Amino acid sequence: MAHKRHLVTEIPGPRSRALHERRERAVAAAVRSNPPVYIAEGEGAILVDVDGNSLVDLGSGIAVTGIGHAQPAMVEAVREQVGRFAHTCFMVTPYEGYVAVCEELNALTPGDHEKRSALFNSGAEAVENAVKVARYATGRQAVVVFDHAYHGRTNLTMALTAKSMPYKHRFGPFAGEVYRVPMSYPLRDPAGMTGEEAAARALTLVDTQVGAANVAAVLVEPIQGEGGFVVPAPGFLPALARWCADNAALFVADEIQTGFCRTGQWFACEDEGVVPDLVTTAKGLAGGMPLAGLTGRAELLDAVHGGGLGGTYGGNPVACASALATIDTMRRLDLAGAAARIGETVLGRLRTLAEQHPGIGDVRGRGAMCALELVLPGTLEPDPAGAAAIAAACHAEGVVVLTCGTFGNVVRLLPPLVIEDELLADGLDVLAGAVRAAPAR
Ligand SMILES: Cc1ncc(COP(=O)(O)O)c(C=O)c1O
Repeated sequence: MAHKRHLVTEIPGPRSRALHERRERAVAAAVRSNPPVYIAEGEGAILVDVDGNSLVDLGSGIAVTGIGHAQPAMVEAVREQVGRFAHTCFMVTPYEGYVAVCEELNALTPGDHEKRSALFNSGAEAVENAVKVARYATGRQAVVVFDHAYHGRTNLTMALTAKSMPYKHRFGPFAGEVYRVPMSYPLRDPAGMTGEEAAARALTLVDTQVGAANVAAVLVEPIQGEGGFVVPAPGFLPALARWCADNAALFVADEIQTGFCRTGQWFACEDEGVVPDLVTTAKGLAGGMPLAGLTGRAELLDAVHGGGLGGTYGGNPVACASALATIDTMRRLDLAGAAARIGETVLGRLRTLAEQHPGIGDVRGRGAMCALELVLPGTLEPDPAGAAAIAAACHAEGVVVLTCGTFGNVVRLLPPLVIEDELLADGLDVLAGAVRAAPAR
């Protein structure tokens, strides 16, 4: 397959449009796709749609396919495993792959202490289980979360997630004992606010309104994902972790979007040397197969009674085989190093673009997790229409980008970590063209 962007029809093409019509009669309207381009195959950072268009993938299926599409070692591992057995249920008759993935998670997540892991199907399920373990091990109930947080769509994780539309609107009532406090959001915080000051702002509310003695866990994304790729000011995460240690609460890092090399290290917490009590992982972990992990201090996970954690499919053998091949590929190709290099290229290009376009209010991110926040020029007023126009223009030219943010005004880039320099440059050229063409406001 040629690793080049190449369009042979308009986007979406006639076959995608026909599939979309079929879909509208079969699939719940609430499940949305943007753009509605139907994919036939992929390789590396290229996606080929059903009309034969080759698209540059700068989204990785929301930070999942870090190793690229159809990565040969992962494909082979999945084929080999599915040909032996596809499922037994680890709670019925166990198998080595599950154990090996837990060993990898215990070794790779921050901290040299004794750890244990458990495996699940989705990020939301891992987060739910982090809360279960935190409540069980501490004997407390309150969970502290942040403005702009995203932790999933199940009932408990909807409660943990900040944004109403589309994630929570009309889906309540939500689970209780969840307390939301302000995030460190340098663009929107008072000028010069440090990470320590932002942490103090949040923790004063916890102390006065929740009571430290009631807090089971402080749950935070080291860099927020759906909430807008918000990178907290340096010092914020370490201050939260210190407060947790001082108050016998657990510091839980949701590394579901940031983990597995995405931000230039195995985990984003490493950037400030923060060692969480519990870490949730999913997405990049298994290179495209559904798998999630909860990893943490041995005494916390082992505190829970036998049978208290699990599920029919959690740690499915095919997903575990995929994860082991994915982790091996990340090590072999030094994809953390690749992510750091991608970050230098992308942030450099985006900063140059921001100098020319007053509608770009902020450029931020780390490694291969970068974003533009669009505002009305000269203000901090969010510009969701600008972000949508830029994303639509990229899609029309065959470059897949995503939007996000509490205000819907952020364009985010999550390229596969194996993307070739030329493809990345081409994708960024298209993005620059889309920014230039966006209607003036
Ligand atoms: C930080 C974070 N936590 C949790 C989730 C939920 O994961 P899943 O969609 O696999 O349930 C996501 C998904 O985007 C995420 O980014």
